[in-house]
Amino acid sequence: MKNIMVTGGCGFIGSNFIRYLLTAPDFKKDMRIINVDKLTYAGNRESLDGISEAFTGQYVFVQADICDRQAMEKVFGEFEIDTVCHFAAESHVDRSIVEPDAFVQTNIMGTFNLLDLFRAGKDRMFLFHHVSTDEVFGSLGKFGHFTETTPYNPSSPYSASKASSDHLVRAYTHTFAIPTTLSNCSNNYGPYQYPEKLIPLMILNAIEGKKLPVYGKGFNIRDWLYVKDHCRGIWEIMNRGKRGETYNIGGDCEKQNIEVVFMICDILDGMEPLKNGRPRRELVEFVDDKKLRPGHDFRYAIDFSKIQVELGWAPEESFKTGLEKTIRWYLDHPNWVNLVQKKCGEWLRRHYKGDEPPRWNNVN
Ligand code: NAD
Ligand code: TYD
Repeated sequence: MKNIMVTGGCGFIGSNFIRYLLTAPDFKKDMRIINVDKLTYAGNRESLDGISEAFTGQYVFVQADICDRQAMEKVFGEFEIDTVCHFAAESHVDRSIVEPDAFVQTNIMGTFNLLDLFRAGKDRMFLFHHVSTDEVFGSLGKFGHFTETTPYNPSSPYSASKASSDHLVRAYTHTFAIPTTLSNCSNNYGPYQYPEKLIPLMILNAIEGKKLPVYGKGFNIRDWLYVKDHCRGIWEIMNRGKRGETYNIGGDCEKQNIEVVFMICDILDGMEPLKNGRPRRELVEFVDDKKLRPGHDFRYAIDFSKIQVELGWAPEESFKTGLEKTIRWYLDHPNWVNLVQKKCGEWLRRHYKGDEPPRWNNVN
């Protein structure tokens, strides 16, 4: 493993992964990261500020679209790529309901392009790691967990497009015998997450004393994992995972959405009380999820015993400490926050107001 292409490295998990990797124990001096990102609304070069200066020779940024076959061919050749860690995707369920086109393009066609180019250079290729989600399994009832053999049953255009990309990875592995690994992870949270997802959206609204829009009654359940734990899991799989295998990664941290929102309110009240002295829990507003998220999955929960037994991976961060760190990070990074809020403000305003769906093809 020498020249590692990280796709989507300017997004939330991708940027955390690059930061993690550059100081990770097994990241050797002769390794190089080639970050390939189109810089959609969700991509921010500022999330990697200072990295190219601090790691000259070990980090390169290329602005390019993974759907652009010629551009990708050029990157594979020019940088002698031998390893791919594939994060780039359209990732927000609500947007996939409003404008699914980009999800089909990037998540399916983009993945196909990369796999096909990886296959073409088979002899020098070390590994293609595909980063995916537990949402491909669909929704759980009150009981049970997703395992690596749970049948796929995606409910949203987002999860269907990710499921499709997973199938492509497996089909290419089976048919062309290329070295791949795949991971399906639960909901991540942490620094640099774009504030259209539950946790950063609630943190930023709560800081400003704005309403906190909770879908339905807030009883839906997600399994939360601190992003650094996810990055460590991916790197373990890339180094020691069995080729051709899938690994589930999860947080062992199931929470109802309303519990998460109340925790954010209470932590922030402790760190920075509102000027009017009122508790932030009063800002919660229950909104109709049938409108904002038709087909809203009820519960996700991951059984991660395979990666735990085979690779010795387990989450390290507790939800409370992870959430405290995340909130502190958003309070301490007003420049980054201002920048992304400028980009997402209008989309979010229209989304929550229930206006005509903003079909802007990912341009804000
Ligand atoms: P994100 O939306 O924050 O970032 C996506 C990145 O991909 C952005 O930098 C964007 O510019 C880039 N991108 C989008 N389309 C592109 C294209 N056509 N060409 C090149 N770059 C493109 O997403 P994220 O939350 O960091 O998720 C990363 C990956 O992890 C996704 O594949 C997602 O399905 C998966 N995942 C996310 C979570 C989660 O909780 N966020 C959980 C499990 C798995
Ligand atoms: P989200 O962060 O979009 O992730 P997922 O891909 O798992 O849906 O949403 C997490 C949960 O939070 C989901 O049940 C929907 C809910 N939610 C709200 O209640 N309010 C919000 O404003 C958002 C964005 C999500």
